Amino acid sequence: MCGVVAVIGKQNASQLVVEGLKKLEYRGYDSAGIASASCGKLQTLKSEGKLINLINNLNQISNAKLYSDPLIAIGHTRWATHGNISLENAHPLTSENKVAVVHNGIIENYETIKNKLISEGYVFKSQTDTEVLPHLFMKYIKLGNNFLQAGRLVLKDVKGAFAFIAMSLDFPNELFVSRNSSPLAIGLGDKSNFVGSDAHSIDHLTQKIIYLEDGDHALVKLDGVDIFNEYEEKVNRKIINIKAEIGLITKGGYKHFMEKEIFEQPSVIPQTISTYINSDSRIKINLNKLGFKNKNTLLILAAGTSYYAAMVGKYWIEHIADLPVIIDLASEYRYRKPSVFGQSAMLVISQSGESLDTLMALRHGKELGLSTNAIVNVEGSTIDREADFSLYTKAGSEIGVASTKSFTSQLVVLFIIAIALGEKFNNLKPNQIKKYCNYIHILPSAIAQMLNMENEIKLIAQKIKNAQSIIFLGRGLLYPLALEGALKLKEISYIHAEGFAAGEMKHGPIALIEDHVPVIMFLVSDGNEDKAISNLQEAYSRGAQIILIADKNCIQKASFAHFKIEIPNFETDFKSFLSPFLMAIPAQLLAYHIANERGTDVDQPRNLAKSVTVE
Ligand code: AGP
Repeated sequence: MCGVVAVIGKQNASQLVVEGLKKLEYRGYDSAGIASASCGKLQTLKSEGKLINLINNLNQISNAKLYSDPLIAIGHTRWATHGNISLENAHPLTSENKVAVVHNGIIENYETIKNKLISEGYVFKSQTDTEVLPHLFMKYIKLGNNFLQAGRLVLKDVKGAFAFIAMSLDFPNELFVSRNSSPLAIGLGDKSNFVGSDAHSIDHLTQKIIYLEDGDHALVKLDGVDIFNEYEEKVNRKIINIKAEIGLITKGGYKHFMEKEIFEQPSVIPQTISTYINSDSRIKINLNKLGFKNKNTLLILAAGTSYYAAMVGKYWIEHIADLPVIIDLASEYRYRKPSVFGQSAMLVISQSGESLDTLMALRHGKELGLSTNAIVNVEGSTIDREADFSLYTKAGSEIGVASTKSFTSQLVVLFIIAIALGEKFNNLKPNQIKKYCNYIHILPSAIAQMLNMENEIKLIAQKIKNAQSIIFLGRGLLYPLALEGALKLKEISYIHAEGFAAGEMKHGPIALIEDHVPVIMFLVSDGNEDKAISNLQEAYSRGAQIILIADKNCIQKASFAHFKIEIPNFETDFKSFLSPFLMAIPAQLLAYHIANERGTDVDQPRNLAKSVTVE
């Protein structure tokens, strides 16, 4: 993870770098730092914790001129991998106060390099893998190499997935940058240039962006950028014009971004819908582009919440299109030799489009000969650019670490894909298609109705906020929602939570039940509800505190539940088919209100980052 940013050739380079860092905090917020050069001196400033601490430090420095004058500066926001969260381990890491480096990723062979450098007299001040980079630069510069040559020698030494930016007092008008599996964008200005982990981090400076490709390195100068591929051949990479987002996204009166994003769902989902369905219920997804010429098995890969969306997608596609679907965690798929028998296409799902596990899985699928498709929220992200074909969720920027609106928009796209596949491969009749499309059009108002249940959910949150452990149960389409509810809760409230398929409880997890353990079940009448209610009864009999979020019929049948939240009255078929959308709302609201009651950092929970760019 981690975010890197750099400015060369502009007054106030440090301030401009800090502006970039504000947009990169989603990549990590364990510490932040900047380095700049002016009057032949390297200045570094670092702070533990969030970027605001660095900004406060910067504002307090009496000799603010030091930081406002430089024409060259680099900056970093950290998600710790090697070495604890401390000032020493914060970036930029330096060598002899002449070279400074900011780095995202992992240098896998750093221990061997570090031992060698120590034997050569270099002194290490941090426990990071990154610190080998400035020392290696220093070593090669001392041997008489120019910055480009030194950087190339460094690249020959290091192994791993990384993106880094280096600056040196010996070459005050140059930055050396390189990328290998971690994203890096270069922005082109007028007698000034910029570098950032994503295009958004530098879109306040330019709209002309070049994305480096894997293995590329570049020398970024005041008046130009020289880019080279892994064979050290000079290359031209495409210049893309991006639209700058207007200003920073605000909380719009909500206490947290997560809350705002939960409540945005009724207005965001219509954007996703209209991207893929015409007003006359015609689906605008070209299955041939998705690599679906024949009736084959579809492979879906993702991580975290996006994986739970894939689980729901599997149920829908198998039911509506009668097409086999294999799903896997991206991080597992990559490190085995999966059979592609009967497969021609893969679909990866990623909000950020940057999850390294998912990116690597996509590349693995490509190597195995599959056509690669992606459902992404961030257009221009690495996964978007590398997939053969992308479908955008159009959820708008999601700032809170917990995925909310991006999850439901992923579900919309998956449901529409299921209908398109059903039409092509399962003889789905126009009236059925129309019925499904109508369901989709009802979704925004159905979600708005679910959001009206907030006060009831808040009361439950207050009752169970001190629980040590909470169990979520679901069956069928709501099993993935049980997993999602548990993930949402644990990541932002730090309460231990597990999701189980209700029928699995008796195979082991029921041993966890003791007096007053909250057990939350999402349930709608789908013909199988009696089985789920029996599973709930089994937990009740063993002392669990039962919270049932369900429709009227289920609530009546499970009158033993301690707390019952009745969802609004929806048509039976709509409710049973689209229950994952409905139950996503209480799952999100419950996690949000429990975390809020406990006073945790809802938008930036500990140990996490929005974009997970390490394996
Ligand atoms: C969800 O709330 C999490 N923050 C996390 O599980 C996330 O869904 C996962 O890291 C995958 O991210 P992506 O969709 O950006 O690839």
